[in-house]
Amino acid sequence: MNSIGSQVHTDQSPQAEAAPHRLYIETVGCQMNVLDSEMVVAALRQRGYDLARSVEQADTILFNTCSVREHAEEKVYANLAKLKKTKMAHPEKIIGVMGCMAQKDQRLVFQRAPYVDLVVGPGQLHRIPDLLDSIRHGAGKQMAVSLGRRDGSQEAIRRSHETFDPLRDPTMRPTPYQAYLRIQIGCDKFCTYCVVPMTRGPEQGRPPREILEEARELARQGCKEITFLGQTVNSYRYREGDRVTRLADLLEMVHEVDGIERLKFVTSYPKDMTRRLLETVRDLPKCSTYLHVPAQSGSDAVLRRMKRGYTVADYYQMMDLIRDVLPEAAVSSDFIVGFCGETEDDFQQTVELVKRCRFKNSFIFKYSVRPGTKAAELMPDDVPDEVKTRRNNELLELQNAISLEENLKFLGRRVEVLVEGPSKMSIKRGETGPVRQMTGRTKCDRIVVWEGNERQAGQLLPILIHDASSHTLFGAVETVETQSVPEVISLRH
Ligand code: 5AD
Ligand code: SF4
Repeated sequence: MNSIGSQVHTDQSPQAEAAPHRLYIETVGCQMNVLDSEMVVAALRQRGYDLARSVEQADTILFNTCSVREHAEEKVYANLAKLKKTKMAHPEKIIGVMGCMAQKDQRLVFQRAPYVDLVVGPGQLHRIPDLLDSIRHGAGKQMAVSLGRRDGSQEAIRRSHETFDPLRDPTMRPTPYQAYLRIQIGCDKFCTYCVVPMTRGPEQGRPPREILEEARELARQGCKEITFLGQTVNSYRYREGDRVTRLADLLEMVHEVDGIERLKFVTSYPKDMTRRLLETVRDLPKCSTYLHVPAQSGSDAVLRRMKRGYTVADYYQMMDLIRDVLPEAAVSSDFIVGFCGETEDDFQQTVELVKRCRFKNSFIFKYSVRPGTKAAELMPDDVPDEVKTRRNNELLELQNAISLEENLKFLGRRVEVLVEGPSKMSIKRGETGPVRQMTGRTKCDRIVVWEGNERQAGQLLPILIHDASSHTLFGAVETVETQSVPEVISLRH
C-alpha cells in the first residue's frame, strides 16, 4: 500500500496553521492512481486543505482504489472496516472512496461500508472539492461516477470520463525531480480479463498543447524526468483537422523543454510498437532506453482467449525490432498466470518466452476474475489457486535469475544516473545528515545505489558499478582521481 499522505512534509506548507481541513489520502494501484491522488490533493490544497499524517489527525479521509485484482479491492474494504469505529466516534469526519473500485462498485460501496460518505469514479475527480463541501453542508451521501460503456452515446460516455490534469503539486510526488504526465485516458483494447476499459472508459488522447504546457509547468517546478502515462501509451493519437499527433511527436515536442533531462513512457501495447517510435527514442538523447511492453502469456491459445490481438510470433517480431533499433534498451513485461484454460504446456510456453526475451524485470500476477469482463462472463476460472501460485513462483524465480545475469553485465561499467534521493535502506537505517546511501536510475531504468550525499539529489551523475543483485546495481560516484587514472597511464606511454 502506497500511503502518500504520510510521505508529505506537511509542516512545510504555508497553510499549515490556517488550514480549516486536514486530508489523509491513501493510494493503491497503478501510476495513474498515484497521479490522480496528486491532482486531488492539489485541488483540495487550493480550497485550504492541508495534509494529515494519519487518519486520527484528519477530518477528510480518502481511499484511492484499484480494481485490477480482487485482492486489491478486499484490502480496501478491510481498511474501510477499520474506520467504522472512527466514524462512530467522530461522525463529522468524511470518508470517501475514489478511483477504479468506486467506479466499478458504485452504490455497493455504501452497502458494504455504510459509514462511507462519498464515492467518486476516476472520470469525475474534479468534482471532489464541491462534493466534500456539499456533504459538510448537510447534503448527505454523494456519488459521482461516469457512464458505463453501454449507457449512452459515444460522445456522452467520453464526456463523462474527464481527465483531471491541469493542477500539479510537487510536494505530493515521491521526489520533486520526477513526475508523471498523463497523455491518454481510458482503454479500447478490451482484453477479456481486464476491468480498465470499464472503470476508465474509452481511450482518449489529451491535446498536445495541454501536454506541452504541463511539461513546461513541471520543468518550472524543477522536475527533471517526465514519464508519460497511458494504458496503451504508444497507441496515443490526437487528431486536429488533418493533423494527427502520435507519441513520437509528443516526445519530440517535450524534448525541447529546457530543464527536462529524461523522458519515459509506460505502458506500451505490443501491436502498436512502431519503428518510427523506436527510432525517435534512439535519436532523442533525453529518452530513456526503457520499454514496458506486457506480453501476458507465451501461448497463442491463451493470448487468443485473452483477446490480446497478437501471437507469440508477433511478439518476437516486435522484440527483434526493438533489438535492431535499440540494442541497449531494457524491456520489461507483465504476465498473468493461471488464466482460464491455461494448461501446463501453455505455461511452459510462457517460460520459453521469458527465457528468450530476457526482460529486465517482469510483473507476474495470478489471474483474478473481474466481474463485468468477457472472461468472467464466458470462461470458467478453472486453474486451481495452488497451481496459479506454483506457476507464479516458478516464473518469478526464472525472471529473477535472468535479471541478475543481465545486471551482472554492468560490473565495471560506468552508468549515468538521475539521482532520486536517499535510498529506502538509508531511510530504514534512520540515516540523517548529508552523507547517506543514495538511489537513482540509469537511462535504461535500472535502480542504482551508492554511498553519496543528499546534495546529489536531482543531478545526473556518473556511477561506476561494482556489484549487482537481481533488482539493484551497487556503485560508487566516479571521483576525479578514478576518472584520471587511465589518462595518466596513457600519458606515461
Ligand atoms: N487478473 C490478474 N492480473 C491482471 N492484470 C490485469 N487484469 C488482471 C486480472 N484480471 C495484470 C496485467 C496487467 C497488469 C497491470 O495487471 O498483467 O498488465
Ligand atoms: Fe490502475 Fe487499472 Fe487498477 Fe484502475 S484498475 S487503478 S487503471 S491498475
